[in-house]
Formats: sequence, C-alpha cells, structure tokens
Amino acid sequence: MIARVRVSPGVPIAALRVLAEAGLESDVGPLDAAAANALLCLLTDRIDVRFLESARHLRIVANMAVGTDNIDLAAAARLGIAVSNTPDVLTDATADLTFALLLAAARRLVWADRYVRGGGFVGWSPDVGIGLDVTGRTLGIVGSGRIGRAVAERARGFRMEVLFHSRSGGTPLFELLARSDFISLHVPLTSETRQLIGAPELARMKKTAVLVNTARGPIVDEAALVAALRAGQIAAAGLDVFEHEPALAAGLRDLPQVVLAPHVGSATIATRDRMAEVAAANIVAALRGQPIPNRVA
Ligand code: NAP
Ligand code: GLV
Repeated sequence: MIARVRVSPGVPIAALRVLAEAGLESDVGPLDAAAANALLCLLTDRIDVRFLESARHLRIVANMAVGTDNIDLAAAARLGIAVSNTPDVLTDATADLTFALLLAAARRLVWADRYVRGGGFVGWSPDVGIGLDVTGRTLGIVGSGRIGRAVAERARGFRMEVLFHSRSGGTPLFELLARSDFISLHVPLTSETRQLIGAPELARMKKTAVLVNTARGPIVDEAALVAALRAGQIAAAGLDVFEHEPALAAGLRDLPQVVLAPHVGSATIATRDRMAEVAAANIVAALRGQPIPNRVA
C-alpha cells in the first residue's frame, strides 16, 4: 500500500517538496483521518480523541508548530499514533517578535504611528509620547525553555536583569511578578499553565509593569487582564495570542496601552518554510519506520 499523507491547507509548499523527494504521495485538503497514514497539520487543527479514534491507518500527526496543545497527546499515545512538533527552527523568530512587542508596548509605538498618520505631530514637544524605559530594567521570563532563553539573550543587549521561572527552578513566580518591569510568558499551554496569570498574579505586578504573551492565549485570564489594565494595576501589554483566538476579550481592542498581533511569532518566510520542512521530515521518518526526530508522543 502506498503511504498517503494528508496536508492541511496553508502549509508551505516546502513540505510538499520534502514529501515528494521521499517518494511519498501527498494531497492538500481538509484533514480526513480515515484515509491517511500521516497528517501534516496546523495549530488551528483540533486533533481530539474522536478524530484520532476514527483514524484507522494513521501512524503520525506532524504538527507544524512547537506547541501541541491542539492535539490530544494522551489519546494519541494510547492509540499508538506518533505526534511530532517543530522546535528550534522558530525560536529566533518568536523571540524577535516577543522583543518587538515588548519595545512597542513600552515605547507606545502603535500610538505613535497613529499619531503621526492622524496629523497630530505638529512639532517636537517634551511631553508627547512618553513611554517606559527598557534598558537596564528587569525582565521576568516565565518558562525558561528555548524561546524564553532566546528572549533573555536579546535582553542582555539592553543590559536588563533577567529573572527566570519554571517548574525546575528559578525565581518563585510571585517573587518574579513583583520584581519585574517586564514579564514575558514562554510556557506551553497545559492543564497546569491554563490561566497561570489571573487576577491574583496581575495584582502582584508593578503598576508600571508590561506583560508580553507570545506563548498561548489561555495562559492569561484575558478578562482579568482587561480589568487590570483599565484599573491601572499594570501599565501595558503586548499580545500575540488570545484566550479565545481569534476573538478578543470584551474591551481589549479599546485599550490604547495594548499592542496586538495576530499570532505571528514565527511568521517569517524562512521560518515558516523550515517549520514545514521539519514537519514533513518527521512524517518521512515515521513512515520509513525510523526514529522520529521531533516526537512528543
Ligand atoms: P520549551 O523549550 O519546551 O520551553 C517551555 C518552558 O516552559 C520550559 O522551560 C519548561 O520548563 C517551562 N514550563 C512548562 N510547564 C511549566 C509550568 N507549569 N510552570 C512553569 N514553567 C513551565 O518550549 P519553547 O520552544 O520555548 O516554546 C514555548 C511555547 O511558545 C510553545 O509551547 C508555544 O505554545 C509557544 N509558541 C508561540 C509562538 C507564536 O507564534 N506566538 C511561536 C512558537 C512557540 P520546566 O519543564 O522546567 O517547567
Ligand atoms: C506557534 O504558535 C507554535 O507553537 O509553533
């Protein structure tokens, strides 16, 4: 039987090249578990237990993302279906975007752009566009993995003091929240990290603190974040991900101190091509019966 690979619409063509070079037959279309031996899916594809149980010939689900919260990993393991992700190749792009959001929120870049375009700029003034200092301030990184550490590397160029928190060590979360001028989230979305940042955590932050989230939306209680920003409990936020993506919590879009991005952490041409190639390479290995380089379940 020829191995059949079903590829989610939108996956870069680089993946199809890798599959074709390996002699694998692939087609692009809505994910159909019953007919495929392998799936190359996106983080927006929900691969739940029902889907997996209907997949009689499926050997691997290759996610074109490092986060795998869209896939029921326990069900896949129980059914003997491998799951892989695309770590490392997107670390720098995501860390870059994280720093872009941090700087944009601190220095009010979106406000500044609108101000100039709107004709508000009629001459330099000492009190227009005042933002927050970044250089030399304290950055608290929650989740000291690949992306968290890459953000820390960038922070060194800004002579920032960097605090880390993860389960395996570092600064306790509440201490990090209280000491940091900037808090950046880099944990995966799991049952432990869902709403990790809610009203009590926001209340621990400085009034001048900036929260950046390029991890996953549900890690933050978005309604509590809106309330904290409205009340001036924290100063600003930079968000690439949302709790009920693509919907925004009520009131979020009206807050001028929030910089919003449409989940574009890894969105560069080279990075997306590498993610597609890595996902395809995981499929090639699985269907050849070889060790899967980025197996997570
Ligand atoms: P990673 O290398 O696995 O790092 C995750 C870190 O989180 C680890 O240091 C882990 O350390 C820590 N962690 C896990 N559970 C925790 C918990 N309950 N409390 C505190 N720390 C915890 O992952 P990565 O490659 O850096 O990616 C991180 C996440 O970024 C991904 O899962 C994905 O959701 C997100 N992401 C978003 C974009 C985007 O486009 N916005 C792009 C890429 C990735 P311990 O095990 O020691 O706790
Ligand atoms: C993007 O969000 C990823 O997890 O790769």
